[in-house]
Amino acid sequence: SKPLRLGIAGLGTVGVGVVKIVQKHGTLLAARAGRPIVISAVSARSRDKDRGVDLSDYAWEDDPVALAQRDDVDLFIEVMGGSEGAAKDATEAAIKAGKDVVSANKALLAIHGQPLAAMAEDAGQVIRFEAAVAGGIPVVKSLTEGLAGNEITRVMGVMNGSCNYILTRMEDAGLTYEAVFEEANQLGYLEADPELDVGGIDAGHKLALLAAIAFGTQVDFEAVELEGIGSVTIEDIRQAADMGYKIKLLGVAQLTGRGLEQRMSPCLVPDTSPLGQLQGGTNMVVLEGDAVSQIVLRGPGAGEGPTASAVMGDVMDIARGLRISTFGQPANSLRKARAARAAVS
Ligand code: NDP
Ligand code: HSE
Repeated sequence: SKPLRLGIAGLGTVGVGVVKIVQKHGTLLAARAGRPIVISAVSARSRDKDRGVDLSDYAWEDDPVALAQRDDVDLFIEVMGGSEGAAKDATEAAIKAGKDVVSANKALLAIHGQPLAAMAEDAGQVIRFEAAVAGGIPVVKSLTEGLAGNEITRVMGVMNGSCNYILTRMEDAGLTYEAVFEEANQLGYLEADPELDVGGIDAGHKLALLAAIAFGTQVDFEAVELEGIGSVTIEDIRQAADMGYKIKLLGVAQLTGRGLEQRMSPCLVPDTSPLGQLQGGTNMVVLEGDAVSQIVLRGPGAGEGPTASAVMGDVMDIARGLRISTFGQPANSLRKARAARAAVS
């Protein structure tokens, strides 16, 4: 049967992880999808870099827009990053060229997700982004599929591993924020612009995406009340511990009488609770629905394998013909009827 032909834009941590899965599990993927999953073409900034994988069977494009427009690409995978420039241009080009898109790029989607989703819907394409929220944890799928029969009442969680690493290391080693920040930076745990992590922005992007899916609202990152972890002191952590609490960068999204509330801020959580027990770079997302009550998902929020695993989950859905739009409701219906859900402004 007809192969699904991938074009991968970005060959860094995530892109290489995707290549490795396709190369390692070709037979398994084909059996599960009922059709071969093949890579047609790839793109990155530097063609000469040794990436530790054999790319010789794939066509190369310097320009990700050209990759998105290739006739031998059915599905465009955007794993370059950045909310503007190449990532945005290439994603738009892919949709216009009639390709489905799988993206790990939370910054792009949190800021431009709504118009991109509307554009895809008009064109009959889907954009999927499981990897953009909590890395390897299938939280988007849980909301859009497993919990589809519920009214979601609350979504919360720890969605930035770097911040959780910093906070748990401060607790465990009694080190200052500044010392652990420096350590995390040296270890390469922080984004190129660390403010995205410690300022709560990256986690805020993820929360905005989850909230839109959970409550069927427009993605509204601007409306997230954001506070990072930069002002958390070792004294705060000690005082919290004395009272039986841990400090976590916690995101909460819920519908209130005033509309959709989205908050990402350092919060006290009981140290014996699942959130309080969360160590290091791990993520945890708590989903609450009227029928299911509460489920807790825990796992790696970043890294080559976990993030590529999430990308491939989306690829497999599309290969199987499962064309579920990631956003909770059709993007265009939302645009046309903004008040579909209570008091969301
Ligand atoms: P990297 O920085 O490791 O890789 C980015 C890749 O994109 C590189 O191969 C780079 O090329 C390529 N690239 C960047 N700009 C361009 C451009 N203008 N044209 C062509 N290629 C370009 O990023 P990651 O793999 O870590 O992340 C990718 C995406 O996944 C981001 O959106 C990130 O937020 C998201 N993500 C990452 C996670 C992780 O654990 N790393 C977890 C969850 C999401 P070159 O190598 O030649 O420089
Ligand atoms: N900087 C992010 C984190 C990477 O620490 O969680 C994964 O999105």
